[in-house]
Amino acid sequence: MEEELLKIKNDASTLIFEAEDTDELNKIKLSFLGKKGILTFAIKNLSKIPIERRPEIGKLANEIKNTLEILVEDKEKALNIQKETKIEKKHIDVTLPGIKPQLGHLHLVTQAIEEITAIFEKIGFERVRYPEAEWDWYGFTALNFPENHPARDEWETFFIDRKPHPKYGPMILTPHTSSGQIREMERRKPPIRMLNIAKCYRRQSDVSHTPMFHQMEGLVVNKNISINHLKGTLDYFARSYYGEERKARIRPYHFQFTEPSFEVDISCGVCKGKGCKLCKEGWLELGGAGMVHPNVLKNGGFDPKEYTGFAFGWGIERVLMMKEGIEIDDLRTLYSTNLDFLEQF
Ligand code: PHE
Repeated sequence: MEEELLKIKNDASTLIFEAEDTDELNKIKLSFLGKKGILTFAIKNLSKIPIERRPEIGKLANEIKNTLEILVEDKEKALNIQKETKIEKKHIDVTLPGIKPQLGHLHLVTQAIEEITAIFEKIGFERVRYPEAEWDWYGFTALNFPENHPARDEWETFFIDRKPHPKYGPMILTPHTSSGQIREMERRKPPIRMLNIAKCYRRQSDVSHTPMFHQMEGLVVNKNISINHLKGTLDYFARSYYGEERKARIRPYHFQFTEPSFEVDISCGVCKGKGCKLCKEGWLELGGAGMVHPNVLKNGGFDPKEYTGFAFGWGIERVLMMKEGIEIDDLRTLYSTNLDFLEQF
């Protein structure tokens, strides 16, 4: 019975595939799937096979029926398209000018990601990506946020509705790329030079926030890494991405996972650091940075007496808007389908 069914399937598929017009296709359909069709007949005959094999064979027969129906449908569509284009072909005027297909390009965020990646690869950073649906452990706890610590609120996190992991806690959508720090430390031994660029998610949507955005995260861990290395790397980024005359500045700040922590500013490109309407006294705020907290190194499996490191992180959309010449009034436009806007970049 099984073989018989498979043969019906093969025969019918070949015939459907080879049908040259809809009339022929309809005939084939009738002869297999019609009331008196071959497959219909075989299905009716199921009562003749031993009762214990009936469910299995019945299932197979039904699958074959569904497959054949889909094949017929697809073929019908293909034949219709063929018919339409044939009619058109008869009327082709070869002297008419051609239609130029519209060429797309990479989204401006993707362009920025590629440019930033190339800049950091030049100084030995490796681009990595880690899960965006991630355990709380990687996003918060291992980054030195005690459970229920109020600082967690600043990250307006989305929680995934599933059972918490006994060790790693609830599952979240990564609200920042810092979750990649612990993943990277677990994955390899120093020297670490990581560039994690990924989508991040926070419960926020207004002119300057989208619920999904991108962040870039740098992490360097090795023996004898100091703030000087961090500052040098930030200056290198400012020069390479924004222009030769730009530089970075760090100001004291607080993050749970870095100590000391800083906010990073880039000198304003318009007033060249003198102070103007666009900036705060010559500086534009970029994002966060700091020396990796000893607890974070420990959670990543490293001895903080032996190794030190620095990390920095900020939004790609922000980096991009700060680049001279691009001003976006409403950040949400970036992720709209507004081609008039997107085509400019
Ligand atoms: N993860 C921080 C944020 O989302 C930024 C940061 C990264 C700060 C690395 C310090 C070090 O705001």
